[in-house]
Amino acid sequence: MTTLITNIKYLFNVTEQSQPLKGKALAQLPSITDAYLLIEDDTIIDYGHMHDIDVKITHKPQNIIDANGRSILPCWCDSHTHLVFAASRENEFIDKINGLSYAEIAARGGGILNSAEKLNNTSEEMLFTLAMERLKIAQLMGTGAIEIKSGYGLTLEGELKMLRVIRRLQKATGMIIKSTFLGAHAIPTEFKDNKEGYIQVIINDMLPAIAKENLADYIDTFCEKGFFSARDTAQICEAGMRYGLKPKLHVNQLNSIGGIETGIAHQAVSLDHLETLNEQEINLLGKWNGISTLLPTAAFFLKMEMQPARALINAGATVALASDFNPGSSPGANMHFVIALSCIQMKMLPEEAINAATINGAAAMEVLNETGSISIGKKANIILTQPIPSLAYIPYSFSHNIINRVMINGNWIS
Ligand code: NIG
Ligand code: FE
Repeated sequence: MTTLITNIKYLFNVTEQSQPLKGKALAQLPSITDAYLLIEDDTIIDYGHMHDIDVKITHKPQNIIDANGRSILPCWCDSHTHLVFAASRENEFIDKINGLSYAEIAARGGGILNSAEKLNNTSEEMLFTLAMERLKIAQLMGTGAIEIKSGYGLTLEGELKMLRVIRRLQKATGMIIKSTFLGAHAIPTEFKDNKEGYIQVIINDMLPAIAKENLADYIDTFCEKGFFSARDTAQICEAGMRYGLKPKLHVNQLNSIGGIETGIAHQAVSLDHLETLNEQEINLLGKWNGISTLLPTAAFFLKMEMQPARALINAGATVALASDFNPGSSPGANMHFVIALSCIQMKMLPEEAINAATINGAAAMEVLNETGSISIGKKANIILTQPIPSLAYIPYSFSHNIINRVMINGNWIS
């Protein structure tokens, strides 16, 4: 079916280049004023100025939608989430209000271990239902491609269950979904004095079973004090890479312990979090070709210093933005709020934040040839906005719903 959308006030992020954006280029966001967009089935096949429309449209569109002055931008590409979990953790939210730190809550058996216990007591069917509800909400908020991690199982069965749920979400929605194995998210209680033993379970039991069912695209480790060291991270990355899983890592959230050097040495696709960076690490990321993924809602929720976005961009880093949706440090997948926070708290320009949440987010999932911009041949993943006066209005109006409708793979989400 061919769909023509006419009278689009601004068609944002129109480009035929498909490289991630770094440094100064991150602020370039080409758009067309008074535009049309032509879609065939699930693919963008043409766009241009309204005044060229008669000359260029050769197909007879079955479906014509008048945008009537509303604007269009590509869907968000949320490249870091933990969307599969069994239950929310608002009790810990109260603990935090009462003064406990994230590390103290984790040390008391809260945090990730709390989520793991609940997940292991929840059926695959129930997890799938809960995750599907969350994914639907994310879609309605404009997310058209997403990465989802395991890491709340921490047992062979639990990790397989999570990864199967992720693959089922992919099949059921047809959406671009990347799956990451994060067995090294925390050290389970049974292994609390035997971390090496748990790493052997990850390498010898979990990875072969996951590879056999082809359940993961990437390997991840929470490289952090009290969790996994840089050496552990290297060992786990190397084991994952033997099964074709590229690293995408949690590094420098609370401490700087060598995760960045390890990730770069292992050709990570992305290094994520980056709240705690020294100058040398900023320079390393600036020279690196992988993606530096910032998760500002996690820093906001944990009341931490925001990631040094400006210093990273100025150093030449390829910055992406993601929601980190999870029950402990970022309980939501609202990418509009992520970009708003990035502008308000990290001094990113609206163009930079939107590019980081679309083009660079797609690059962080290695799907930039399929999505992330309005480009011929890419998926028809679009956000139709409410009438808005400008691009900057999007992060500026952080608490308003600026979305009118969302289309994913050519279908309007309802
Ligand atoms: O990315 N920091 C590690 N993992 C998650 C939080 C997990 C949790 O608290 O449940 C994160 O912030
Ligand atoms: Fe995370």
